[in-house]
Amino acid sequence: MASYDVIVIGSGPGGYVAAIRAAQLGLKVACVEGRETLGGTCLNVGCIPSKALLHATHQLHEAEHNFAKMGLKGKAPTVDWKQMLTYKAETIETNTKGIEFLFKKNKIDWLKGWGSIPEKGKVKVGDEVHEAGNIIVATGSEVAQLKGVEIDEKVVVSSTGALELAKIPKKMVVIGAGVIGLEMGSVYARLGAEVTVVEFLDTVTPTMDGEVQKQFQKILGKQGLKFVLGAAVSGVEVKNGKATVSYTLRKDDSTATLDADAVLVATGRRPFTDGLGLKELGVEVTERGFVKTDGHFRTSVEGVYAIGDATEGPMLAHKAEDEGMAAAETIAGRAGHVNYGVIPSVIYTHPEVAAVGQTEEELKEAGRAYKVGKFSFMGNGRAKANFAADGFVKILADKETDRILGAHIIGPMAGDLIHELCVAMEFGAAAEDVALTCHAHPTYSEAVREAALACGDGPIHM
Ligand code: FAD
Ligand code: NAI
Repeated sequence: MASYDVIVIGSGPGGYVAAIRAAQLGLKVACVEGRETLGGTCLNVGCIPSKALLHATHQLHEAEHNFAKMGLKGKAPTVDWKQMLTYKAETIETNTKGIEFLFKKNKIDWLKGWGSIPEKGKVKVGDEVHEAGNIIVATGSEVAQLKGVEIDEKVVVSSTGALELAKIPKKMVVIGAGVIGLEMGSVYARLGAEVTVVEFLDTVTPTMDGEVQKQFQKILGKQGLKFVLGAAVSGVEVKNGKATVSYTLRKDDSTATLDADAVLVATGRRPFTDGLGLKELGVEVTERGFVKTDGHFRTSVEGVYAIGDATEGPMLAHKAEDEGMAAAETIAGRAGHVNYGVIPSVIYTHPEVAAVGQTEEELKEAGRAYKVGKFSFMGNGRAKANFAADGFVKILADKETDRILGAHIIGPMAGDLIHELCVAMEFGAAAEDVALTCHAHPTYSEAVREAALACGDGPIHM
């Protein structure tokens, strides 16, 4: 039995970041992980592998659609799916090995196996029980099941199966027009699959700003994705390796079916805390199974903290990371803090979609007086040169004070551009502060400045 100041259970972006921060602050730390490799959902079957496939297939799209326009002629590349999967696997490996290296560097013990908390201050891994001054639950999430649909990870897959289908399907049905559905749907559409996305609500990415949703659906439509909105999937039947998806249209209760070689179920994720023994320990969870915390990552049991996907809030790697750092700091006696009002979200399609703060719909509902500054990438020289002029930057600012309340970008590098506005919001900046900041030319960032100018006297290039 070993004794630690902190034992973190789970090595995803929440857990490994918490472990590193706690070690940096001088605490003796161990991290329990049951998978073969460190890094959690994000590095093994989430953010990293999906972005590798998005990157590879975007290169293919550029070669097929834009190279010839720039005078780059010749045969378009053909797809070697096995090699693409190898590239994805190697990308995962360099990243997970990177976390192993960071653990060694920070003298963090990796306790290999599945952990449980038999009593306060104790963590059991296999037959060993370790003492822990503090325990951080960072056990993440898993795919939520959809009634009437059985995932076999061959024909009917979750995101994990979608990251390594045996072959590229001719026809794919994606259930759920959320982040996973649209990212992975884009991957297979670019690889030549006929992709139909079936969504329960009447819009794609239901939590995004309304104008962005409309533009996003239009652009994805041009890329070949088909949408059936307002449709409740009632079941999926698999026969001889082919699937039939049945759905009911909510507007008139009519029913229809779609045939597919592969079906991706992407209707959300649920917290994963199985086997930890939380109930016996007295740790309270919500109705949906999220571990309840007090705003400082403390659970209902003293000395037990929880972070990341296992707790409420957006299921995002950077949210988990920020909570990991803040929880470690709280344990070390510092004032750990996460500003939940400024957590960006990004969809890594092409173009990318990024958002921070409030949507126009939320401001309207709250009765807040606001103004909108919008600028299309059509007016941005760099975007036009790079065939990336589809999309816009939209900044929402308080009508009186000009303080930035939200920002929404659909366009090239939106996931990077959004951070200028995150920093501005952290500093309580006005749109005018961004508008008065000199932005290098020619960059996509100029579109952000122009949107900020549009909150005042108007943009220059529109
Ligand atoms: P996880 O990453 O889920 O890690 C939890 C770890 O705990 C797992 O490794 C698990 O094995 C381990 N564990 C669980 N129970 C135990 C136990 N009892 N003992 C030992 N170990 C245990 N987010 C983004 O921000 N950007 C993206 O681009 C993005 N892309 C995604 C793509 C896909 C396909 C998916 C599925 C998710 C994506 N996400 C993305 C979400 C992101 O992966 C999660 O928000 C993030 O991984 C949550 O981190 P976490 O540390 O809370 O949990
Ligand atoms: P999601 O919550 O983003 O989207 C699920 C979609 O499925 C919603 O649009 C919902 O209305 C729809 N839906 C639910 N039930 C349905 C039904 N019966 N029939 C049809 N549609 C139905 O969930 P998703 O895409 O599974 O992603 C899970 C989590 O992973 C998200 O919380 C997301 O934040 C995270 N993630 C983040 C990424 C990123 O940051 N780029 C990438 C991938 C995942």
